[in-house]
Amino acid sequence: MFKAALIAGARPNFIKIAALEYAFRQSGRFENLLIHTGQHYDAKMSDIFFRQLGMPEPDMYLGVGSGSHASQTARVMTEIEPVFQEHKPDVVLVVGDVNSTVATALTAKKLHIPLVHVEAGLRSFDRSMPEEINRMATDAISDWLYVSEPSGEKHLLAEGQPRDRIVFAGNVMIDSLRRFEDQARATAEHEKRGLTAGGYFLITAHRPAMVDVPDRLAIFADALIRLADQAPVIFPIHPRTAARLESLPIGKQLMAHDHIHLTEPIGYLEFMCLMMHAGLVVTDSGGIQEETTALLQPCVTVRPNTERPVTVDEGTNILMELDAAAIAEAGRQALAGEWKEGRIPEKWDGHASERIAAHLADHL
Ligand code: UD1
Ligand code: UDP
Repeated sequence: MFKAALIAGARPNFIKIAALEYAFRQSGRFENLLIHTGQHYDAKMSDIFFRQLGMPEPDMYLGVGSGSHASQTARVMTEIEPVFQEHKPDVVLVVGDVNSTVATALTAKKLHIPLVHVEAGLRSFDRSMPEEINRMATDAISDWLYVSEPSGEKHLLAEGQPRDRIVFAGNVMIDSLRRFEDQARATAEHEKRGLTAGGYFLITAHRPAMVDVPDRLAIFADALIRLADQAPVIFPIHPRTAARLESLPIGKQLMAHDHIHLTEPIGYLEFMCLMMHAGLVVTDSGGIQEETTALLQPCVTVRPNTERPVTVDEGTNILMELDAAAIAEAGRQALAGEWKEGRIPEKWDGHASERIAAHLADHL
């Protein structure tokens, strides 16, 4: 048995770690040490995912909370170092690209603990994104690099990573989606909210480049008002976005609009149900680009680039500049059924975490 420290800090991490935690446990070859850094801490950003995704309570909760990039990253490092020193894991596994990911990676490697990065090699080539810095730094020092789509392998090889350290394992986020898909459908969340299948828009936004710039957030809000002329809009609001929206005049217009339903963040199962039945998803999320592709559901990603190109090349995702009229037109096309056909990318089959568990146990 290998002792594996599995690290989760923020909402998308919980969904990926849930799949890995389950596969590692099922394999019988790992003893899991589940560590929650506390980067996300609201019940609706954290606890609900542990409950709905069948994860055990974390063995450790570091309670780092919010802060600037430097202070949050530093707090994860100082809190997690003594945990590693005491528990001496055989391997540390990090996922994705959040501050908890890079902070853990740096700490583990300086303690000479083998380091695994799941979802390695994704690149937007946009260094103004904090996630791009986190990905590049984490990949540079990881011992095993498990990639979710072929672009990951290409980028890592171009950066000089040795081929025998890179494994195309598939997408662990989609493992959770496949495992919980029936439960998600059974919530009938769209019906509970009075929405008809194919007849509403589902929105998320939380990237600093979109929501921390008032003029840009105002254009996005205008796009939502235009979409709401065509069909109901449901917008679960990320905590970063909530305060920004309240301070904008157009934010008040959104709140007062009859066809725009603003809500707190929604649970995983209910959110997945809303994704499955939406006419169109409009987002700047990383994970949602992948989930809509796996569900063959139309998605507009309001960003100039994506680190997940397979969702555009093979999936149902399109990239779009922040242009209210263009987003409204995409809404019209999606409601009219005029959307490209997608296909599910290779190895997005619900078994990526099992492949990682088997490969890692054989190579440690
Ligand atoms: C983080 C990740 C981002 C990821 C996103 C997923 C980094 C650099 N960013 O962004 O890559 O896409 O999570 O959702 O790691 N807040 C709360 N309650 C919470 C958590 C946050 O109110 O439970 C508020 C705080 O005011 C905080 C702000 O949201 O300052 C931002 O949180 P933070 O974790 O720093 O970044 P995210 O924007 O959530
Ligand atoms: N999600 C959710 N409830 C919501 C919004 C998102 O369960 O109200 C899920 C979504 O399905 C996806 C994950 O959260 O799996 C993505 O997280 P987020 O967009 O915050 O992060 P990113 O993937 O952009 O890093």
